[in-house]
This record gives sequence, C-alpha cells and structure tokens, in this order.
Amino acid sequence: MADEPREQDQVKKLVAVSCGERMGNTEILLKEACMAAEGEGVAVELIRLLDLKIEPCRGCKRCNHPDSDGDCVIRGDDIPFLLEKIHWGDCGLIVGAPVYFLTPPGLFKMVVDRTIPYIRRHPEAFLNKTRVGAAIGVGGSDAGWVNFCLPLLNSFLMLTRELVDQMQAFHVGESGHVLLKEDVLARAGKLGRNVARAMSVPSEQVGWMGDEPGLCPVCHSNLLEVDGSLPRVTCPICNIKGIVRVDGDAATVAWDEGWRESRRWGEQDLVEHIAEIEKTQQEFFQNEPEVKRRKEKYGAYSAVLVRP
Ligand SMILES: Cc1cc2nc3c(=O)[nH]c(=O)nc-3n(C[C@H](O)[C@H](O)[C@H](O)COP(=O)(O)O)c2cc1C
Repeated sequence: MADEPREQDQVKKLVAVSCGERMGNTEILLKEACMAAEGEGVAVELIRLLDLKIEPCRGCKRCNHPDSDGDCVIRGDDIPFLLEKIHWGDCGLIVGAPVYFLTPPGLFKMVVDRTIPYIRRHPEAFLNKTRVGAAIGVGGSDAGWVNFCLPLLNSFLMLTRELVDQMQAFHVGESGHVLLKEDVLARAGKLGRNVARAMSVPSEQVGWMGDEPGLCPVCHSNLLEVDGSLPRVTCPICNIKGIVRVDGDAATVAWDEGWRESRRWGEQDLVEHIAEIEKTQQEFFQNEPEVKRRKEKYGAYSAVLVRP
C-alpha cells in the first residue's frame, strides 16, 4: 500500500463505484453519470465491487491497537487498491447501489468496515473535505422500501467528501429495467454533470446541487430520531440535533446552533471520537489481565456450533 499519492492519482478525476451487478440498473445509471461528467472534461474510472476480491473485517482490532501502525492484518484482497483509488488524489466520488432489504448490499458495508485502518493511517484524508461526492440508489419498489440506502451511501461519502447530489430510482426491478425510464437516465446525467462542475470550483463555493434538500442540511435525508422526547430530534446519520416543527403538512427542523462544526463528519467530531476511543481503550488495557481471567468461562463454554 503506497503511503504517498501516486502521480496519476494527483490528476483531477471522478471515481464511480458500483455496488450492483454487471450491466445492471445501478451500473447503467453510473455510466450515464460518468458519460455526462466526461462531457464536462473530467476523467472517469468506474469500479465494480463485484469484480473485486473483498474480505470482511475480522474484528481483530489490530489496526486500532495503540502499538499498531494502523495497517490491516488481511493481505491479498483488493481493498488496498479500492481505498487507494477512492481516497487518494483530488478525485470526486459517485457511489451507486441497488437496495437490498432497505439498505445497500452487504458488500458495500464490507468496504465501509475495512476503511477504519485507512482512517487511522491517513487522518488527513478524512479531516479535509475539499472533495465532492454524490450517491445513486436503485430500488425495485417504491419509497417505502428504500429508506436506508441513500443515507448509508452518504455516510460513507461524507467521511471524506462534501455531498453535492443524490438520486433514488424506484420501480426498477429487473436488470436493465431502467433503460425504459428516460427521466431517471436524464437525472443520472444531471448528477454526473453536477459532480463534475462541483469538482472544478473552489471547495468553499461548493453547495447542495440536488433536488430536495431534505430535513438534514448535511446528509439531506428526511430520517429523524426522537431525541429523548419530542420535539427534540437527531439526524441519526450526522448526529446533529434540533427541534422539529410541523406547520400544516410540512415539517421543518430548527437545528441547534453550531451544527456545522459538531456534525459527525466534521473535524471537531472526528477528533473527539478518536479521543473517546483512546479513553475507552485505556480502561481496557489497564485491566487486560483481569479481562483475560474473566474470559476463561466463556472460552470454555461448548455450545458453539462448528461446521463438521
Ligand atoms: C436480495 C435483494 C433484496 C432486495 N430488496 C429490495 C428492497 O428492500 N427494496 C427495493 O426497493 N428493492 C429491493 N430489491 C430490488 C433491487 O433493488 C432492484 O432489482 C435493483 O434494480 C437491482 O439493481 P441492479 O440491477 O443494479 O443490481 C432487492 C433485490 C435483491 C436481489
């Protein structure tokens, strides 16, 4: 894994990542976005997760151990290639995913989990949000069956980027079904153009270019969590808090002052989160021999089924 960006990764480009099947609806919409971005003079690379060898995080926590250099113990799969493509250089990023049981497919989550060593090794890539990203969700059903797809795609994008656009396709079930929907294809082209244009302006001028701004000003979703008791609410994706108001059939949220600084994806929150993890680790490591002793009872418990 290279520690410094390689020369070709310094070139401004757009990386599109598909979590869908080869030549499925997601890939078609991503290609539509990529072609439109190319029309704006941006170089494009499209990566299919299903073409890659991706191992799940084993939860060993070596990458987060105070004595570790932050590297992952898993060797020989394509995660270093993928994360290097996504995180290094000045590239924009579009992630597209079909909806599987209300969320993006498990393969996407496997990539997200494997990003933790990268955060440890390259915090600058996560603190400096000068690059942009956008998300495409594709569902076979209607709005009642796609709830967590875009918010989860966006949570990954916002680790390293400012979100500028998102779109959700509905009622495209079979592979290539989206080719019957000109408006959806056109919307994907617009998303690609938006990202390409946002890539070429200074980051302080980049703002939301999508359709509905949503209730959350950060991830632009309408998901709200009741925070204790109404009308206090939290955006579960961005962890900003506010007061929800209902006026007729319209809901608005007055977000607490300072939400921009305190949002989950901002420098302040990431630094605090890392400090919190270190404090939790200290409690553990100070008592590690005792934990080892108490673990014996559970290690000896024999109800674990092992495949013959
Ligand atoms: C395992 C599985 C679960 C699915 N779950 C949902 C779902 O919860 N909501 C939905 O709208 N569509 C669901 N679908 C339909 C897909 O989102 C849809 O077929 C999509 O177009 C697939 O995209 P692709 O062609 O890029 O693979 C599911 C499909 C599969 C295979």
